[in-house]
Amino acid sequence: MGLALNGTGRPPLRIGMIGCGVIAAQYLATFDVLADVELVAVADLDPARAAAVADGREGVRALAVEELLADDQVDAVLNLTIPAAHAEIDLRAIAAGKHVYSEKPFAVTTEEGRAVLEAAERAGVQVGSAPDTVLGTGTQTGRAAIDDGVIGTPVAAMATMVTPGHERWHPQPDYYYAPGGGPLLDMGPYYIHALVTLLGPVRAVIGASSRQRPERTIGSGPRAGEAIPVSTDTHVTGVLVHDSGVLSTLVMSFDAVATTIHPIEIHGTDGTLAVPDPNRFDGDVSVHRLGGDGWEVLPASGGYVAASRGIGLADMAARGERLRASGELGQHVLEVMNAMLTSAHDGHRVAIDSSSRRPEAVPLTEVAVRA
Ligand SMILES: NC(=O)c1ccc[n+]([C@@H]2O[C@H](COP(=O)([O-])OP(=O)(O)OC[C@H]3O[C@@H](n4cnc5c(N)ncnc54)[C@H](O)[C@@H]3O)[C@@H](O)[C@H]2O)c1
Repeated sequence: MGLALNGTGRPPLRIGMIGCGVIAAQYLATFDVLADVELVAVADLDPARAAAVADGREGVRALAVEELLADDQVDAVLNLTIPAAHAEIDLRAIAAGKHVYSEKPFAVTTEEGRAVLEAAERAGVQVGSAPDTVLGTGTQTGRAAIDDGVIGTPVAAMATMVTPGHERWHPQPDYYYAPGGGPLLDMGPYYIHALVTLLGPVRAVIGASSRQRPERTIGSGPRAGEAIPVSTDTHVTGVLVHDSGVLSTLVMSFDAVATTIHPIEIHGTDGTLAVPDPNRFDGDVSVHRLGGDGWEVLPASGGYVAASRGIGLADMAARGERLRASGELGQHVLEVMNAMLTSAHDGHRVAIDSSSRRPEAVPLTEVAVRA
């Protein structure tokens, strides 16, 4: 049994999960082991999906969305719906007095994301936002190395994600090619949450983007072979200007086959740090020191060990308003992403209004598991 996240012996946060699609399986596996959260109800627009999740899970009820939101046993709503529904479900949950934790992106438009935070503030409830992968040992060991001065003063970073497209494997990939999707809003949260964790908040962005194909073809599941329309940019690149003056170059693409570059590289005055895929919790962090003769793998020195999706919700359960995967951070990253698209279309540098703190580092921590 691991070290408790809270150590207070308080009862677990009771979770109602809305959205029982592809990613739900990873959260369910986490709920099976974590001690700080307990799944009590599930709902989906498609009742059969909710019933299939509840089936065989003791203490978990399949409800209609409205019933779940009104349920006294639910303390917090885990929102695993598609991006276009994130803000609406969050707002309804907040209106019902529930804490909320949403999958990424935090919302589709910056305005609706802001409305969620304002409603939560008025209601006095917590808001969390994925991704929580950056709370794992990969990104957090990179963070510890920077804080320990391993690369001197950070100057610049590069964050790169390329794939030929999620329609090749996801059975209902429509949302990836609609507003709220695309490589930036879908995968950008991992990379930008990591960059803010590593280097602090962003004050301005410059972007450029393209969209080469008007439709994509579904590659798996019952709809395999069906063409779906593309209504968002599929290659997005640009520069983030951090408050610290560090410049991060971002490349997010659903239009490229492969790359040899590290997912994230941080260049400092005394060395370069290679940080692993922020869509994963773990992975090696390497440093190439100034004057050194190669890459050296650093031992894990920060982050939740062997974590999986849902650890951000457990962190919220244990730490309350000191949660790390916060809605405030999700909203900052959403604003950064939408500002990149605005800049790409207008051709101007765009200032970022929202301020966010660099989230508190995670010391190397075993997660609290059920006895
Ligand atoms: N698929 C992945 O690998 C992955 C990984 C990380 C994060 N995510 C994020 O998780 C979220 C869900 O992705 P997914 O791949 O599981 O999608 P999905 O389409 O497989 O599942 C979404 C589910 O939400 C339900 N839903 C949609 N709108 C709803 C509403 N208004 N009320 C109730 N239920 C509603 C749908 O019926 C569906 O069952 C997205 O925000 C996505 O970005 C997905």
